[in-house]
Amino acid sequence: IMSDDNLWYEGIPFPRVFYSPEILRKAREEFVMKDEDVVTVTFPKSGTHWLMEILCLIHSKGDPKWVQSVPIWDRSPWIETDPGFELANKKEGPRLLTSHLPIHLFPKSFFSSKAKVIYVIRNPKDVIVSGYFYWSSVNFAKKPKSVKQFLECFLEGNVPFGSWFDHVRGWVSMRERENFLMLSYEELKRDTEKTVEKICQFLGKKVEPEELSLILKNSSFQAMRENKMSNFSVVDDAYLVHKNPLLRKGMTGDWKNYFTVAQAEAFDKVFQEKMADLPRELFPWE
Ligand code: A3P
Repeated sequence: IMSDDNLWYEGIPFPRVFYSPEILRKAREEFVMKDEDVVTVTFPKSGTHWLMEILCLIHSKGDPKWVQSVPIWDRSPWIETDPGFELANKKEGPRLLTSHLPIHLFPKSFFSSKAKVIYVIRNPKDVIVSGYFYWSSVNFAKKPKSVKQFLECFLEGNVPFGSWFDHVRGWVSMRERENFLMLSYEELKRDTEKTVEKICQFLGKKVEPEELSLILKNSSFQAMRENKMSNFSVVDDAYLVHKNPLLRKGMTGDWKNYFTVAQAEAFDKVFQEKMADLPRELFPWE
């Protein structure tokens, strides 16, 4: 079931592997969100797995046993994938869940629940570079031919999960809600400790200083890179073109190594046009 093509659903491209129209429909119409659920929501390559690992470690009070023994997608299943949907439905008690869905395809039941969503955004130029390498390295979806081509597709919304601009615009409209927290990859990088404290506060969890340092230690780029349950080591080789496609560089501003000046300027122009009406402080890069 390797794939070099996308699955189109409601006008949005999805990876063909692990996704189906039936489950995408059920995720929206039938999935029952519970008040105790905590959902990581992102456009892919924005820091999804990093936040998932942090949330798992907050749950285990910094003890790495859980994150080192259970694959990351089982600890916090993706609501909209075929295996994740089934697993999420079977989970008892407070759940950690994950989703890349644009808001209009997200479970309807969320909007009348007290479930918490944490939405992570990242400089879209870094999302493009990270996405280019990631989608080139896995057999889940259409493979980009070059950074240039991926950038063009990204601007057209012709990449997995559609238009970044629409995704972000949809989700940031939730920012005044009590059960919604917006974070950026950049602030997570700049001050991980403060950001983890912010997350704990949002979750209403008290963490002791020793727990906090364990959470930080065990969710570091290096720790995740070495953790077989988080670094894609347990993904079947058939799905991978390159080993370890997930934890690539883990830095901000890597786009500068791949964008030409003209490409960066053209991108900024589109960004301005599409996002001009939103407060600038929502986009804390540069
Ligand atoms: P790069 O490709 O730029 O290295 P996602 O989890 O949404 O798919 O995003 C993957 C990106 O997050 C990758 O970016 C990856 O390196 C980065 N990442 C994952 N874990 C991280 C961590 N603990 N610290 C910093 N970056 C991390």
